[in-house]
Amino acid sequence: MQSTTTMSAPVATISEIGAHSGQTVTIRGWLYNLRESGKLLFPIFRDGTGVIQGVVAKNAVAPEVFDSVKSLTQESSVIVEGKVRADRRAPGGYELDVSNVQVVQRVPESDPYPISLKEHGVDFLMEHRHLWVRTPRQAAILRVRAEIIKAARDFLDDHGFTLTDPPILTPAACEGTSTLFPVDYFEEQAYLTQSGQLYIEATAMALGKVYSFGPTFRAEKSKTRRHLTEFWMVEPEVAYATLDDLMELAEELIWFIVKRCLERRRNDLQIIGRDVTKLEKIEPPFPRISYDDAVKMLQEGFERGSLETRFQWGGDLGSPDETYLSSKFDKPLMVHRYPATVKAFYMEPDPQRPDLALCVDVLAPEGYGEIIGGSQRMASYDLLVKRIHEHNLPEEAFKWYLDLRKYGSVPHGGFGMGIERAVAWICGLEHVRETIPFPRMLHRLYP
Ligand code: 4AD
Ligand code: MG
Repeated sequence: MQSTTTMSAPVATISEIGAHSGQTVTIRGWLYNLRESGKLLFPIFRDGTGVIQGVVAKNAVAPEVFDSVKSLTQESSVIVEGKVRADRRAPGGYELDVSNVQVVQRVPESDPYPISLKEHGVDFLMEHRHLWVRTPRQAAILRVRAEIIKAARDFLDDHGFTLTDPPILTPAACEGTSTLFPVDYFEEQAYLTQSGQLYIEATAMALGKVYSFGPTFRAEKSKTRRHLTEFWMVEPEVAYATLDDLMELAEELIWFIVKRCLERRRNDLQIIGRDVTKLEKIEPPFPRISYDDAVKMLQEGFERGSLETRFQWGGDLGSPDETYLSSKFDKPLMVHRYPATVKAFYMEPDPQRPDLALCVDVLAPEGYGEIIGGSQRMASYDLLVKRIHEHNLPEEAFKWYLDLRKYGSVPHGGFGMGIERAVAWICGLEHVRETIPFPRMLHRLYP
């Protein structure tokens, strides 16, 4: 580390640089890029909040300052002092006339920053995810992610929900035994949670309207652009809620989140390259169709040659089916009442058609697929015991859960929204791997 100068001007962040127009400020960050044109240097600095182009004129600064900027390497950490100048042509509207610079750590030429501004393959970038997150587009995605999480929590906090945190280490499955991650819990067999749902059903009976927000785990062996093995879910759960109540809640929540991102993260969405006009169309009411009608649409799609196989009633919707259905609408599509056999053990049957579950999947538009899955929960003790056995689940581990049906059982329900799926849709990303700082997938545990 070299320490050549001490900056005396007040520290400013790039995102708020406009407030300092005409003033001299200090920016603490990194060199993103450097262009040279005769006696002028154009370093681009980033500080985590944004990027700004600096201008260093040879005849306006001390020779050491000019030389130290000139020899700066990509991602070297620097503290710069300069005067903020409004410039309509500059991407953020401002440039910095650099007067002084302090190099905090210079990246050596012999071992340069591995991610250059040219294209890299995705495997290389994933291997360098710890550095890739510095790229302005990746940083913008992470800011949108944070906004989505905050929006979801603000919405629920402001609508009478209490946050109740479920355990991560659990003794039993919630979403099927084939995707459990086993953990050796002293002498006992434990698993990483697949969903907080069962536990927040208990807290909903205590507090009425609750939610959980936390990491969930699925040992997904498939390599798809929608699946992670570790992902974050926001799960509201409501005592006395019906399926219609849940659909309304899902609609309001999604609408609120999209509006928030448009209000507060428009600039980031632009950096990401998102077509925001698509998001501006998202407002209630969202279309609601039954599984039966979805099957009809899929069969028509096959007859018209848009789908490769003819969908049979009774099957679960696969990714191509979801993509096909959701691409027919420009708002999220709610598909309700799936056959009980393709859904989880805890779902309440439809009293009109007991072969169907009172459940809903929300499919994001533009082919992004399922972002929310939820249902009314089974209220009957006897039927729940029967389902636990049919699904080959150990009744012993669910004794506490069955208690909820013995002591003041009420109709209730909730849903889970996958944060990464929501981020992928709102940011318009090909793959969920870019939606989380450090994705965990099949064959991806590093960095
Ligand atoms: O549909 P799922 O499996 O539902 C549940 O876990 C319920 N217990 C939730 C509830 O009712 N409280 O998962 C809910 C959502 C999906 O719609 C999807 O957005 C996301 O979680 N999700 C995944 N996201 C990334 N990778 C995976 N492997 C995911 N599996 C589910
Ligand atoms: Mg689901």
